[in-house]
Amino acid sequence: MSTALCDPRLGSAASLVRQGAVFADIGTDHAYLPLFLLESGRITRALCTDITDGPLASARAHASGSPVRSRMEFIKTDGLDGLSSRGLTDIAICGMGGELIADILSRAPFVRDANIRLILQPMTRQEHLRRYLAREGFAITDECYSESDGKYYLTLAAHFTGEVRELTVEQATVGLVPVPPSCVAYRGYLMRKRQALSRAVEGKRRGGEDVSEPSAALLAIEHILNNG
Ligand SMILES: C[S@@+](CC[C@H](N)C(=O)[O-])C[C@H]1O[C@@H](n2cnc3c(N)ncnc32)[C@H](O)[C@@H]1O
Repeated sequence: MSTALCDPRLGSAASLVRQGAVFADIGTDHAYLPLFLLESGRITRALCTDITDGPLASARAHASGSPVRSRMEFIKTDGLDGLSSRGLTDIAICGMGGELIADILSRAPFVRDANIRLILQPMTRQEHLRRYLAREGFAITDECYSESDGKYYLTLAAHFTGEVRELTVEQATVGLVPVPPSCVAYRGYLMRKRQALSRAVEGKRRGGEDVSEPSAALLAIEHILNNG
């Protein structure tokens, strides 16, 4: 039985990791995700990486009492630097901004491999990340929404196909993978996004700026919320 902490946010990332994966958690911090995956038997080994010492120390401390500690490796590195030869099949990058996640992927050509699954949880700029993935030839195969402590989260699964796409504002905003509109976390996520976009439209209008992009995004959200 797993003793690792795994709230719905990390649970949705865990659900996208494949059984038996050669797994890395980039920006692991507390290492809750790899601990959960190891203790639940989903994976057998995990690379836990972070760019700074403090979070890595926290990861080691959390792992110290666990029976799976010997199957965890802790690496200090920036993004995916130095991990190309590790035979990774599933890579999680959670709890970072969408731009930073895109930047990390852009500096790691080895992830352009159809056999590698990316599990990405952007805290901000989700549209930017969707656009980056589509433009760089990655297909988004799953989109999961979750709620933890009153906040809503999106988690994507993607892999490289080489097929390049330019997403519309609507696709970048609400995604390409159909989610049942009855999904409570999806509706909550869209409602929060609607609030933020409404504020952005107001601000831009006051500043005499073009509001066509955020207005199109708002319409796409309204359409889903009203037809769900
Ligand atoms: C908010 S925490 C998220 C922790 C965990 N992944 C989660 O989702 O709960 C972000 C972590 O990413 C790490 N980080 C930020 N930039 C990074 C980079 N370029 N490479 C690796 N880790 C990074 C930070 O040090 C921090 O520990």
